[in-house]
Amino acid sequence: MGVKLLLEKAHVVGIRTYEVYRREGGYRSVEKALKMATTYVVEEVKKSGLRGRGGAGFPTGLKWNFIAKTEGVPRHLVVNADESEPGTFKDRYLMEFIPHILIEGMIVSSYALGSNVSYIYIRGEYAWIVDILEQAIAEAKLNGFLGKNILGTGFDCEIYVHRGAGAYICGEETALIESLEGKRGNPRIKPPFPAVKGVWGRPTVVNNVETIAAIVSIINNGGDEYAKIGIGKSTGTKLMSACGNINKPGVYEIDMTISVEEFIYSDEYCGGMANGKKLKACIPGGSSVPILPANLLLTTAKGEKRLMNYESLSDGGFTTGSMMGSGGFIILNEDQCVVKHTYTLARFYRHESCGQCSPCREGTGWMEKILLNIENGKAKLSDIDLLWDIQRKIEGNTICPLGDAAAWPVAAAIRHFRDEFEWHVKNPEACLTSNYGLAHYADPIHIPVLT
Ligand SMILES: Cc1cc2nc3c(=O)[nH]c(=O)nc-3n(C[C@H](O)[C@H](O)[C@H](O)COP(=O)(O)O)c2cc1C
Ligand code: SF4
Repeated sequence: MGVKLLLEKAHVVGIRTYEVYRREGGYRSVEKALKMATTYVVEEVKKSGLRGRGGAGFPTGLKWNFIAKTEGVPRHLVVNADESEPGTFKDRYLMEFIPHILIEGMIVSSYALGSNVSYIYIRGEYAWIVDILEQAIAEAKLNGFLGKNILGTGFDCEIYVHRGAGAYICGEETALIESLEGKRGNPRIKPPFPAVKGVWGRPTVVNNVETIAAIVSIINNGGDEYAKIGIGKSTGTKLMSACGNINKPGVYEIDMTISVEEFIYSDEYCGGMANGKKLKACIPGGSSVPILPANLLLTTAKGEKRLMNYESLSDGGFTTGSMMGSGGFIILNEDQCVVKHTYTLARFYRHESCGQCSPCREGTGWMEKILLNIENGKAKLSDIDLLWDIQRKIEGNTICPLGDAAAWPVAAAIRHFRDEFEWHVKNPEACLTSNYGLAHYADPIHIPVLT
């Protein structure tokens, strides 16, 4: 059984309430941190090696160091609870079952950053979690952990929950800030970065829910202790949301030393492939990261066991590797069609593009159309090359990384499964188009998908 820092108490009856959470040792990190100098708290976070859990894996302590400290200018902490990446549902679990761990982490982080007003920006669809968080905030306030003069230290802090309207792009930190300010969630051109000019032009740190929840154990046990867990630059534990053709879909807290094979097949985690089917492929870090075929998922191109951490999952770059991303582990068995799967993702990204940049706005639309044609047996072989060309022209040419996020899955699917794309083109008679534009196959390796 691996070490648990975030979910250890998740199954304690009543842990959602302040009373039980406190009895189980909750809010100790606030008592400890508020006696420390703010720079010391930041130093502990730096020592921990914690990397942002929202996708990019940027070192949290370093990010906190960047926040501009202009005398008289308020600063803000914003927690990114947008979690709209397909396949990712770990923040939901944390907020729903142990809301106080997020509030506790936020108080410590707000103190370290000098934020007297902090926000949780939550995706619109998580409506019931808004109530859970607001209840936790009210309880923390009632018990002196929020509001004015917290624990008599002179530190004031309020936390507000802001509900988004259900746009994936509002998870991108600058779009999130625009939305929080009450505007349309269009990403901003960077620089300036939020650490200099964020919410209402004030220095702002945007961090993921899991990142902020991890601050609790870093302060309780010390940054050095946290850094001892895991391996290399993948310190601490990581929440993975696993879904797809496995026996036990769910949210798992892993020590980042375990192998991908252990994660998929051991009973402690995914419990193996459902119905004894063969593993075909996996998207290891949420829909934006490159898909890996089974052989490259379990073993790197160097022949080493692939591990569940930042370095190992990206070993080989995008040619033979992928990314840890947001930890959304999507597993496909031998029955799944990679073309249809890629089309579904392309449709999502086309829908979610904010439309500000031409390569993303136009390119996502063209990728969706070409993929649908390939899927339905209405394409030429040269369309596969055209698709490749379009994704290359999107990548790196846009204001925000949504363009890359739309391009990478397409690139990886063609790179690793080109034969499957060609099969569709060469076997148009095997595809029957439905009214929904999704194809059914005469070939038994494909599952009919209409629901
Ligand atoms: C299109 C898009 C969607 C994103 N969605 C999320 C999200 O839902 N949650 C999140 O924490 N980060 C998301 N990010 C990453 C954020 O921009 C930002 O890097 C992150 O919140 C920083 O927190 P961290 O350093 O703790 O990871 C998204 C990025 C992009 C480009
Ligand atoms: S890359 Fe796409 S989502 Fe991002 S700013 Fe450009 S058009 Fe909008």
